[in-house]
Order: sequence, then structure tokens, then C-alpha cells
Amino acid sequence: MTVSRAIGWELDGMPRIMRGAGSYLYDDAGKRYLDGSGGPAAFSLGHANPEVNAAIAAQLAQVACGYRYLFTSDVLEQLTEMILRYCGPLFGQIVFASSGSEAIEGAMKVALQYWVARGRPDKCRFIARERSYHGSTLGALSLSGFAERRKPFVRSLLDVSFVSAANVYRPPVGVPPAQLAPELARELEERILSLGAGNVAAFVFEPVVGAAGGVVPAPPGYAQAVREVCSRHDVLLIADEVMCGSGRCGTWCALEHDGVAADIIAVAKGLAGGYIPLAATVFRRDIAAAIADAHGSVLTGHTFSGHTAACAAGLAVQRIIERDALLERVRTRGESLRAALQASLGRFAEVGDVRGRGYFIGIEFVRDRKTKEPFPEERGLSAAIGRRAFQDGLIVFPCAGNAGRGLGDVIIIAPPYNASDDELSELIDKLSRAVEASLVEAHSA
Ligand SMILES: Cc1ncc(COP(=O)(O)O)c(C=O)c1O
Repeated sequence: MTVSRAIGWELDGMPRIMRGAGSYLYDDAGKRYLDGSGGPAAFSLGHANPEVNAAIAAQLAQVACGYRYLFTSDVLEQLTEMILRYCGPLFGQIVFASSGSEAIEGAMKVALQYWVARGRPDKCRFIARERSYHGSTLGALSLSGFAERRKPFVRSLLDVSFVSAANVYRPPVGVPPAQLAPELARELEERILSLGAGNVAAFVFEPVVGAAGGVVPAPPGYAQAVREVCSRHDVLLIADEVMCGSGRCGTWCALEHDGVAADIIAVAKGLAGGYIPLAATVFRRDIAAAIADAHGSVLTGHTFSGHTAACAAGLAVQRIIERDALLERVRTRGESLRAALQASLGRFAEVGDVRGRGYFIGIEFVRDRKTKEPFPEERGLSAAIGRRAFQDGLIVFPCAGNAGRGLGDVIIIAPPYNASDDELSELIDKLSRAVEASLVEAHSA
């Protein structure tokens, strides 16, 4: 059996990764790749950062992991304090995990346990949105409005209720931009009422949609409006910040931008910047207190929750981000990066939308700017752009589906927070070349 078969994905033709340095990766032929998307927006500080590696090595030299039910550690406590400080005074407890899917499972279980603790066990249904992705475990996949990924498992998924995606570029038919937030909040409220508020545990959403839409920020006023609806009906608000959080959008919590606090937040990818897998479910003090009063402790977590070396990695990454004021850089430089991408790519008639926040930017391609008609799925335009960029030594994240069911080609740009200005210019040049060549090919096919 080949290695490809054994691990379940296609390795043929893939370069072999050898090392990383800052914003670059190198393969075994010595070819250099600029990491323009942090893989799937995961590598917040670039690669092989000597300070992060030293912190991990120092921890490993002491002990790799103190099992969570037997020991605490300095790094676990310091990272916990830091995350809670970033999430704000309402938040009081964290369950660590190793992946975004686990952090979402944790969020679902904390919500369910909270309602049982409050004597309301019927509040066990979830509402989520179309064109969303929350993870690959069965609970997280149940919440995901992502038909292609759900298909083989659909009969075993939880019965989650879906409301419309919140998308300024592709709003529901007949809804003008100014009406989008109130209209979508009204839809959510109606759904809660039709399910019965007494049966609904939580509404789950990505403040800025990642791979399922291609960086789709919530419309202005949307987050406040859904917050109000949830509060009015005693429904918890869960923010999936696995991709858009940990500073990717220029504020530590993506929802900070909207002036809104969720009840439960899931974070992952950028938290430890990919140095060691690390994720977290963060929740409010009152939720933690209700669970503690009724049950003693939260009944979720895993063998490696709060893994000591992973916490050392997360702490080192977050300390560098804080010390070097990188969120400020992501906020300000993110604006100019988006403007520069718009200026460079706007000359192509097929660039329909350049959107995003901070270092989380999506570029959507259309056949017709006016009608926003997408390219046919079989053309595979975003994948073709991604392939060309990769050949030219640039990593971007292609995705499709913003126009529904595999349609709507988007390229996601998500560079390391500490990428230099020269590296960002190289990103724009190489992406422009890849877009130009792929469009020429698309039109001649
Ligand atoms: C918004 C969002 N939530 C959850 C997940 C699941 O994270 P993981 O792949 O680490 O399990 C992802 C992964 O892409 C994601 O983008």
C-alpha cells in the first residue's frame, strides 16, 4: 500500500516540506514558498520562530505534559489569564483542546450542560447558518452549513436548524443592504419562536466566515442584532472564532470589532500559531458558575486538554504578538493590504469583491461583475489560481461555495501577523501573476 493510500489523501506530486523561516517555507528541492495564507489562516507568527521554539524546547526539557486532573502548570495558568483578559471581564473559564472541531464540541457541550444545570434540559437544539463550517467531528459537522462535507454522514448528524448566511455581497434575494441585518435577525427570531425558545440551546455563527464562504464579515449591525435576539429569548450565542479569531482580524476576538460579546467562544488555529495543536472553548463566568453549582465541573475535555508544551507554545506566540504590538499592525497594515490588493487585482473584470478584516482577506471571482454570476464549478478557477501561485512559490487558500453548492470562487489571503512590507508586496505581485495567467487560461478553455 502506498503512503498516499495509507493516510487517505493524494501525496503524488506534492513537494516534501523541509524547513521554515519566518514567512517562508522550503521544500527538499530548495524551492521557497511565501506563506500568504498561513495554510488555512493558522500560522499567525510564521515558521520556526526561534523564541517560540526555545519556549517549547525549554518546556519539553522540563516535562512535555502534566495530566490535567493531576497537575496545573505555570504556562497553563499564564495562558489562561491572558486569554481571559483578551476575552473581557464577562469570561471566566476555559476548556483547552487540540483542534477547532474539539473546541466547537466543547462549546456545544458547555451550552447543553448549562441548560441542564439551570433545570431546563429541553433547551437542547442548535441553530446555525447556511454556508458555514464548524469542524469535522459529528457534532461540529452537524452545525456546518456545508452540503459537500456533510453528504456521506447526513443520516447520523444532529438535527440542527439552519438560517440564512449573512453576506453583504450575496444577500438573500430582494433584501437591500440596509435591511440585511434586521431582516436576518428577524429570521433568527422567527426560527427560535417556531422551534420554541424553550427548546433552543444556542445560536452558533462565525463572526467572519472562513472556508465556507471565503472571508465573509458579518454585515454592519448584524452581530448586535443577533445578540439582542438571543438575549431576548434566553438562547446562548456561540462565536466560532477558530479561523477569524486570535487576532487574525486585528482584534483578539473578531467580535470586538462589532462591539459585541458572545456567551461562548471557540478559538484554535492562530492561538499557538501551528507550533503545537492548541484550541480552547472560553465561556462566561455565569455559565461556569451555574455548571459548578449544579454539577461541580464541566463534563467535557480530552486526555491532552491543556497539554503543557502546547500551552508553552501558545503563551510564547501570544506574548510575542502582545510585545510587538502585532494586532495594531494587523489592523492598520490590513487596511492597506486590502487596498493594495484591490488596486492590483481590480483591473481584472472578473474580480467581483475584495473584502475582509485585518489579515483575513477574501477575493471573489465572477464571470460578470454586474450580475455577480459565478464561474462554473467544473472550471475550478480558485483551485487553478491556487495551483499557479504555488508553482510560483506563493501559498494562498482557494475555496469555493460562496454562491452556494460549490459555486463562487474565492482566494483567501491570511499572511503571518509579522510578515514584512516586502513580503506583502511579493504576495501581491505573485498573486496578480497567478490570477492573470489563470484567467487567460479560463477564457481560452
Ligand atoms: C470556522 C472553523 N471552525 C472550526 C474548524 C475546525 O477546526 P479543525 O480543523 O482544527 O478541527 C475550522 C477549520 O477549518 C474552521 O474554519
